[in-house]
Amino acid sequence: MSENRYVPAEAGEGGVRHDDDGCDPGQRFSSRSIRSFVLRQGRMTVAQQRCLDEMMPLIGLSYRPAPLDLDAAFGRAAPKIVEIGFGMGETTARIAAALPDRDFLAIEVHGPGVGNLCKLVAEERLDNLRIMQHDAVEVLRDMVSERALHGVHVFFPDPWHKKRHHKRRIIQPDFVALIASRLAPGAYLHCATDWEEYAHWMLDVLDAEPLLANTADGFAPRPDYRPLTKFENRGLRLGHGVWDLIFQRRPRDVNVVAPGEQ
Ligand SMILES: C[S@@+](CC[C@H](N)C(=O)[O-])C[C@H]1O[C@@H](n2cnc3c(N)ncnc32)[C@H](O)[C@@H]1O
Repeated sequence: MSENRYVPAEAGEGGVRHDDDGCDPGQRFSSRSIRSFVLRQGRMTVAQQRCLDEMMPLIGLSYRPAPLDLDAAFGRAAPKIVEIGFGMGETTARIAAALPDRDFLAIEVHGPGVGNLCKLVAEERLDNLRIMQHDAVEVLRDMVSERALHGVHVFFPDPWHKKRHHKRRIIQPDFVALIASRLAPGAYLHCATDWEEYAHWMLDVLDAEPLLANTADGFAPRPDYRPLTKFENRGLRLGHGVWDLIFQRRPRDVNVVAPGEQ
C-alpha cells in the first residue's frame, strides 16, 4: 500500500492572521519552495494500514486553509500541544498517555509513521490525540490561531547535516516567529536534538526570537515528560549527547522594533 493513501488537500490562499504589530509571521511562508522534508516511499505494515483505515476517520484532521476550532476537534477545552514531525509516534503516544489532561495535535508527513501512531492510539485507547498528515508549517500558518497553544514539541528534527541543506532545517527564524505567535503567553516551545551543531543553531535562532525567553541558562535538562527513546538510550550509552531547549513565550509581549526604527 502506498504511503500516500491519505492524500492531504492542497494548500490554498487565505487563513492569514495578524499579530498586534500588524505583522503576520505566516505571510513569510506564503510561497514556500524549500521544505524541511522529502517525502520518502515507505511501506506500511498490514496492521498499520488497518489501524490507519479505522482510526483516521475518527482522529484524523484534514488540512484546510482556515482556522481550526481546536476545542471542537478534541471535544473539550484543555491545553493544546502540537508535536511537529512525530516520526513513528512512540514518544507522542507515551506523552499523551502520561498527560491525559492535555490534548495533542500530532503532525507528520510520512505515511508509515501516521499508520504506526494510529496503531498506538488504538492499542492504548488514547482519546487526547489527533493526527494530521500534512506539512506542519502550513498547518501552523493556516489553521492554528494566534496564542492558541499551550506548547509545541519539535523532537529530533532532521538535522540536514550538509551545509548546502541547512536551509531545509525546520528551525529557522521565520518558522520560530510563527510558532511563537501561536503560543499563548507563558506557553512553551520544546526542541531536542542529538546533533550538536544543530543544537547550537537552534539555541541561536530561539535566543534571537523576541517573543521567546529561555527557561534555562543555555540548554535545559530533559524534563520528565519527554521519555528516552531506544535510539537515544543507545546513543547516550555510546557517549553521544542530546540537547533539550525549552523556551517560553514572554508573559507580556515585548515591543518588537523593526530594523531602522530605533
Ligand atoms: C528525524 S525524524 C524525528 C521523528 C521523531 N520526532 C523522533 O524523535 O523520533 C523527523 C520527522 O519530521 C518529519 N517532518 C519534517 N518536516 C516536517 C514538516 N514540515 N511537517 C511535518 N513533519 C515533518 C519527517 O517526516 C520525519 O519523520
